[in-house]
Amino acid sequence: MSALGITGLDPALEASLLSDMVRVEELLRSHIKGDYPLLVETSRHLVEAGGKRLRPLLVLLAAQFGDPSKFAAIQAAVVVELTHLATLYHDDVMDEAPLRRGVVSANNRWGNTVAILTGDYLFAKSSALLADLGPEAVRLQASTFERLVIGQISETQGFTTGLTPLEHYLKVVADKTGSLIAASARYGAMVTGADPQVMETLTKFGEAIGVTFQLADDVIDIASTTNESGKTPGTDLREGVPTLVTLFVLESQDPRDAELREILSAPITDEAVVASTLIALREHDAMLKSRALLESYAEDSRKLLATLPAGAAKEALISLCETVINRTA
Ligand code: IPE
Ligand code: IPE
Ligand code: MG
Ligand code: MG
Repeated sequence: MSALGITGLDPALEASLLSDMVRVEELLRSHIKGDYPLLVETSRHLVEAGGKRLRPLLVLLAAQFGDPSKFAAIQAAVVVELTHLATLYHDDVMDEAPLRRGVVSANNRWGNTVAILTGDYLFAKSSALLADLGPEAVRLQASTFERLVIGQISETQGFTTGLTPLEHYLKVVADKTGSLIAASARYGAMVTGADPQVMETLTKFGEAIGVTFQLADDVIDIASTTNESGKTPGTDLREGVPTLVTLFVLESQDPRDAELREILSAPITDEAVVASTLIALREHDAMLKSRALLESYAEDSRKLLATLPAGAAKEALISLCETVINRTA
């Protein structure tokens, strides 16, 4: 497995992606500077804590279908990571999450006000870079961000008429997470002058793999027995946010699930109940059903790649589908 999280990566492609990633990291850090030291410190807090850098990687992989030597690919990779980071600061406030990327969350360390303003600051920083990429890129950022916010707000508002709870959940996932991952792939193609048809295919792939990635994340929130993910398992249960596994339990008619359904119908505030519910869910059929759905989504994502020109970048994207299913953190 490469340091980039992809198995069987072509050595020449790997070397080029690794050196581009170094440039992404440099720009990410050098770009976060300004007149107010606290904001620089709070912004760098999560940049330096790590993270998988999935969205920048997807920009760079998509850039392989155009002219990958263009500096705009590095800038776009930084734009999507900064945007993602901003949403993490805001999301941790909304979810009252104590831990992020293996470190104390900004809301936990500095309070909600500072965490929210740090997210806003990162959007400002992201916009400054984005302007260099031109109006089409700015429009993409606007429409992506609109979807992301709609996804986050509809998660908090709960399901509405016309959709089943599972359909609502899948729409939330597509909007809050699929949107930015799709945009990452699209940016990579757009700013390097890839063929428009290829750009459309990469966008569809990004959306599909983004949804798959969030489904996996939601399974991990329940399945993980450690803080290996850098986050605290059970956050969705504490917040009363229904996700794939719990939705399958909630829609079950099995009388043996009655007690579990009752517990899952509201946020769980008692830590002992969170712990026992996590154990019950890990052993439940809903977990197997969720993993099966996850695999079918990964397979559908992989199929979308069929029309892309053959080569190492296409192979890497195929392999990325495996990474998303197999990840445990
Ligand atoms: C976390 O994203 C939010 C989700 C969409 C699941 P990542 O899992 O990509 O977080 P980092 O960037 O690796 O910290
Ligand atoms: C976050 O979703 C999606 C964003 C748009 C940031 P979650 O709330 O499920 O993500 P984690 O588990 O906190 O990373
Ligand atoms: Mg969260
Ligand atoms: Mg959330």
